[in-house]
Amino acid sequence: MKNYICYSINNTLNQFNMADTEKLVEQLVTQHGKTRNSLLPVLQGVVREEHFLSDTAMIAIAKALNLSSADVYGTASFYTFLETEPRGENIIRVCKTITCKMKGKQQVIEAIENHLKIKEGETTRNKKFTLLAANCLGWCHKGPVMLVNDDVYPHVAPDQIVDILDKYC
Ligand code: FES
Repeated sequence: MKNYICYSINNTLNQFNMADTEKLVEQLVTQHGKTRNSLLPVLQGVVREEHFLSDTAMIAIAKALNLSSADVYGTASFYTFLETEPRGENIIRVCKTITCKMKGKQQVIEAIENHLKIKEGETTRNKKFTLLAANCLGWCHKGPVMLVNDDVYPHVAPDQIVDILDKYC
């Protein structure tokens, strides 16, 4: 069994400065258009690049789309996949809903926790992974189900965890 994984010493994740964030928002607004309909794709674009929506990003988006900050924050906090807290480069979500619960999601979560040395809700020190529990992911017939970013792992077993996560190092 492999030991702890993929430490990157010079990790700069989640250390975006205000100018970079504002520039990113500007690019996304140019790409998607300066209308309210662009709000969701712009929010998603920021999360894709910066892994979460900082206050700086939400204020910049509000300004650029001529919306109130409350409107932007309200939308951001409504969607589970729009992170408003700093997260790791890779987000692991394990379904916690009833079918996956019955099919062994707890053993999967424990295997991840043991491998990454974090608890559910936490991020590894090198900011490589965040582990979250999620509501039903729509793959109930193939539980337990785990997502790593957009990749789906149906019928995932605890003994597969090390090999799966190594792919993201
Ligand atoms: S209950 Fe787990 S994917 Fe639906």
